[in-house]
Amino acid sequence: MFSIGIITASDKGARGEREDLSGKAIAEVLAELGEVKHYLIVPDEQSALSEAMIQMADDRKLDLILTTGGTGLGPRDVTPEATLAVIDRQVPGIPEVMRAKSLEKTSRAMLSRAVSGLRGRTLIINLPGSPKGVRECLEAVLPALEHGLSIMK
Ligand code: MTE
Repeated sequence: MFSIGIITASDKGARGEREDLSGKAIAEVLAELGEVKHYLIVPDEQSALSEAMIQMADDRKLDLILTTGGTGLGPRDVTPEATLAVIDRQVPGIPEVMRAKSLEKTSRAMLSRAVSGLRGRTLIINLPGSPKGVRECLEAVLPALEHGLSIMK
C-alpha cells in the first residue's frame, strides 16, 4: 500500500462554497493502491499550491500526490505551474496517456495542461477538475502506477 495525498485546487472549494466531489473520486478509484494520508483544498494560487505539494512530499514523505483542478486555460488555472516549480524531473508519459485516452471521450481533453513529475521520492500527477475527468484520467494511468511507484523506493 502506498501513501497518497490529495490536493484539490479550487477557489470555491477552499471557501467552503462547493463540495469536493473530485477529491472523493480520487480516493475511491485509488482505494486498492494506497491510503489517503493527507487531503487539502487549496485556492487557485500558485504559491499556496506549491507549498501544499512541498509539505506532502518533504514533511510527510508521501509516495503519491494527486492534484485535481486548475489545469485548464482560465486565468486562475495555475496548478501545472505550481507543480513545475517544485518537481525535479518530469514524467511526460503520464499526462500524454491521460490526454490520449481522454480524447477518445471528449475533444476538450486537449484543454488540460496537466503535468506529472518527481519531487524526490514523491510522484505528483495533475488531474482535471471534474469527477468524470478524474476517473477517466486515473483509469488511463492506473495500469502502470503500481510499478512506477514501486521502482521509486
Ligand atoms: N479529461 C477527461 N478525461 N474528461 C473530461 O471531462 N475535461 C476537460 C479536460 N480534461 C475532461 C478532461 C476540460 S472541459 C478542461 S477545461 C480541462 O480538462 C481542464 O480542466 P480543469 O481546469 O478543471 O483542470
